[in-house]
Parts: sequence; structure tokens; C-alpha cells
Amino acid sequence: MKIRKYLKNDEKDWLQCRLLSFFDTSYYDNIVRKKENYDNNAINLVAIEDNKIIGFIDVEIEKIKKQACYLEGKLGGVIWELGVLPEYRNKKTATRLLERAITLAKAKNICRFEAWTQDDIPINYWYKKHNFQYKEGYLNVFADQGKLVSDEIGKILGVRIVNFEASLDRKDELVKKYKRVHEVRLYELKFDE
Ligand SMILES: CC(C)(COP(=O)(O)OP(=O)(O)OC[C@H]1O[C@@H](n2cnc3c(N)ncnc32)[C@H](O)[C@@H]1OP(=O)(O)O)[C@@H](O)C(=O)NCCC(=O)NCCS
Repeated sequence: MKIRKYLKNDEKDWLQCRLLSFFDTSYYDNIVRKKENYDNNAINLVAIEDNKIIGFIDVEIEKIKKQACYLEGKLGGVIWELGVLPEYRNKKTATRLLERAITLAKAKNICRFEAWTQDDIPINYWYKKHNFQYKEGYLNVFADQGKLVSDEIGKILGVRIVNFEASLDRKDELVKKYKRVHEVRLYELKFDE
């Protein structure tokens, strides 16, 4: 397995890898058909095996504090995309993508990474195993239109699937009312200490 920078003509292979890597996660319907161009510089890496992309990491990198990061702190990067194809998992591919991203980030005076993710068990284990610290979270709630509650989301009535954010303390109440309630979690890894 080889790690290299993402190239422009990787886009189709990258999109397919992302689709399949997220298929067994709570991001299964977070589908993009074009790779994101970040506002700031980014570290975009791919893992190659069997002549195809089997894993990827995207980290948006700050030049000025708070350009991309949410938390107060030193210059940082935000991991917006991370995934490995199911049949290639547990072979340290994601670990190697992270290590390479940290090396490249340090060369740009980046001291920490933030990562937003949902409550899928593998990725949460993986972040904790790599010393990311949980910082805070919120709920990402999905409802069928038929189950809309007007005080909650009346202002976007007419959309077939509705989606809104709520505070974590409402979880017990909202899981009873809506079909999908995910905890969105923010992690941070400091690597300058
Ligand atoms: C999380 C993910 C990136 C890890 O990729 P990977 O290349 O398999 O990871 P590594 O080989 O570097 O590390 C494996 C570690 O992941 C964790 N892990 C993997 N699968 C797991 C599972 N089913 N349950 C719990 N932990 C799991 C463990 O910590 C494991 O190490 P250990 O068994 O030694 O404790 C991969 O599972 C994945 O692509 N998940 C779906 C994508 C995703 O959820 N992305 C987040 C949205 S941005």
C-alpha cells in the first residue's frame, strides 16, 4: 500500500472510494458527486493498493487562527474526510494516512487537528486510539416529512426529508419522535506537546 498526494485526475476513483467507504456508516446518504474545494489550503492524501484508491484523508489547513478550526487554540487543521474501503480495513491504512498528514501539517506550523464525526463505533474507537480527545457534540436529527413537528422545523416544511440540529440533552426526547438521531462529535488531537 502506498500513500501519495491526491491528484486532479483521481476525482472519479476518489468519489467512488468515498461512497463505498461511507456506505456502512451513518454517512451513507452524505453523497457528493464532486470533490470539495476548500477555502484554505488542504492536505489531500490517498492510499493506493491494487491500482486503485482504497483510502483517503482531507485536512483543511489554517494560515490564520480560526480560519477553519472551531476551537480556540494554536494553528490547526480540520479533518473533513477520512475513510478506507471496507475490504481493506484494519491494515493500518487510516493510521498511515493520519501519520503522513501530521508530518505534512507540522511542516506548515500546524499544531493540532480537529475532527467532526458521528456516532459510528469504528471511527470513534479509531480517533480515541489515536489520542484524539472528545471536546463537545450536538445532535443531527432526520425526520420523514410525515412526522414533522411544526414548532421544530415548520419553517422548512415542504422538503421531503428534514434535518435539523439539537442539543445533546434532548436525545431521549428526540429518539422517540424521529427516525434517525446521530450524535455529532468534535475531537481534537494536539501534536505540538
Ligand atoms: C475508521 C476507519 C477510517 C479506520 O480505517 P482502518 O484503515 O481500518 O484503520 P486502522 O487499520 O488504521 O486502525 C484500525 C483500528 O480502527 C478501529 N476499528 C476498526 N474497525 C472497528 C470496529 N468495527 N469496531 C471498533 N473499532 C474498530 C480500532 O481501533 C482498530 O484498531 P485495533 O483493532 O487495533 O484496536 C475505517 O473503519 C472507515 O473507513 N470507517 C468508515 C468511514 C468513516 O466513518 N469516516 C468518518 C466520516 S468522516
